[in-house]
Amino acid sequence: MQSEAGSQARAWVEYFRDMGVYDFYRRGDPASPCAIEIEAGADAATQRATDAAAAFNDPPTSPTEATAARRGLDDVAAAPAPNLASTIDERTSVPPAKLISFDDLAPLPAAAVPAAEREAALRAIQQEIGDCTRCPLAYAGRHKIVFGDGLAAARLMFVGEGPGADEDTQGIPFVGKAGQLLNNMIGAMGLSRAEVYIANIVKCRPPNNRVPEPVEANTCSQFLLRQIDVVRPEAIVALGATAATYLLGVKQPLSSLRGRWHGCRGAKLAVTYHPAFLLRDPRQKAEAWKDLQMVMAELGLTPPARK
Ligand code: URA
Repeated sequence: MQSEAGSQARAWVEYFRDMGVYDFYRRGDPASPCAIEIEAGADAATQRATDAAAAFNDPPTSPTEATAARRGLDDVAAAPAPNLASTIDERTSVPPAKLISFDDLAPLPAAAVPAAEREAALRAIQQEIGDCTRCPLAYAGRHKIVFGDGLAAARLMFVGEGPGADEDTQGIPFVGKAGQLLNNMIGAMGLSRAEVYIANIVKCRPPNNRVPEPVEANTCSQFLLRQIDVVRPEAIVALGATAATYLLGVKQPLSSLRGRWHGCRGAKLAVTYHPAFLLRDPRQKAEAWKDLQMVMAELGLTPPARK
């Protein structure tokens, strides 16, 4: 069993990872993205978050509930900040694996699959995946392979990290607490879940919801890439650092990737916070709402009228 200090340290590590901060071993670096993100106007953020929470029509969630929802961890907010430099040993840092963007993995097919054939084309990919044993996640306690969900000819696609416990049980992406928030975010954009397509970087649940290993993400990428090529969305929203890292082939703080357009498989790609992160730190909902508004403007979407 993990000690309390251990789970608190893990919670902090995950918090920073959601922010796209990986390089904890750079001690005392004044340009550290951790410092920049954390100091970025907490009070103003609290006010802006109120508006965003209203926009997402999200039931109030305490940091404690939110944290428990995603990872079953102790209350991150109440935990004293651990000395990260001492919890992550410099000797454990390994050179990052080479990242390849989805655009560089394979050429874009010359012709799009006709809209009427996209559902069948997605089914064919799912059949090809079968009872997959291509990566270690097949042997790490997964119950269901979570292929993807939604409209095969969607204009908008969301890509998350990987299934959690609820998704592993049901075989559908984003059906747990984070999924409820994602549904609210989609609703705030004036869409329903049935009008978008949702998938993940990996299709099998990593044990204890850990971040997928590069070998797992890279093995699974071939299928997500083909799903994107079939759906041909006009816009993709990368939810969190893992999705952004693998789709774009860059490992950067989310702050440097948000607020502007990237490209992926012929679609415009926006980066925003993962809903599970927003559950842990609801103050950041205002920032996520800005990202979604950028997407809405691109797709000509208007938020539904307030009741
Ligand atoms: N988090 C993800 O990244 N994907 C899911 O499907 C659920 C939670």
